[in-house]
Amino acid sequence: MKITIISGSHRNPSQSEKVARHVEKTLRTENKADTWLFTLADNPLPLWDQSLWEDNPDWNQRLAPIREQLSSSDGFVIVSPEWHGQVPAGLKNFFLLCNRFEVGHKPALIVSVSSADGGAYPVAELRMSSYKNNRICYIPEQVIVRNVENVLNENAADNDADADGYFRERISWACEVLLGYAEALKPMREKIKVHHDKFGNGM
Ligand SMILES: Cc1cc2nc3c(=O)[nH]c(=O)nc-3n(C[C@H](O)[C@H](O)[C@H](O)COP(=O)(O)O)c2cc1C
Repeated sequence: MKITIISGSHRNPSQSEKVARHVEKTLRTENKADTWLFTLADNPLPLWDQSLWEDNPDWNQRLAPIREQLSSSDGFVIVSPEWHGQVPAGLKNFFLLCNRFEVGHKPALIVSVSSADGGAYPVAELRMSSYKNNRICYIPEQVIVRNVENVLNENAADNDADADGYFRERISWACEVLLGYAEALKPMREKIKVHHDKFGNGM
């Protein structure tokens, strides 16, 4: 199984990327999954514009390696910080740039990140408005990493031991659940006509 992890923070460095790297390590070491981590640090992608739909060679060249990685993935982990109660604009832009042939009908685990007690809004926003046309399938399990500065640090002295242990265990289990969905949905996509010419966009 191959899982792509998207780190949705534009900051460099960011706590979201720290969490994304921990998730990647978990998937690789515990689940023997192949992974690709794509970070939105420093905004590597321009904002969507109309020429994307007009076969603009610049867009095609820029997106080709990303499309290839997404298409060959069986599932996704979307890591999003909560910024002013929202998902960062760069992550929403990412969802404008990817399509159903790359992520459609593949499972995704949402991991949201907050330096305090937030983190619920990005979950709600992603579930409400990032899947309609690309048909990414958010699984019911999710992880909200609260007080993120105190957990998942490489130096154990920087961690709150109880919270750190809890999040490591919870992320490990959530990754296992995600991989279960990834295995289950793969034959489904082969069996059912999931890309229907008549119904290119969701309702
Ligand atoms: C522009 C901005 C807005 C933020 N707004 C919120 C917020 O609404 N709720 C919250 O819990 N944390 C908020 N934070 C703090 C983040 O939770 C914190 O920066 C955390 O480390 C995750 O962001 P990061 O991945 O960019 O580091 C905000 C941070 C930034 C940079």
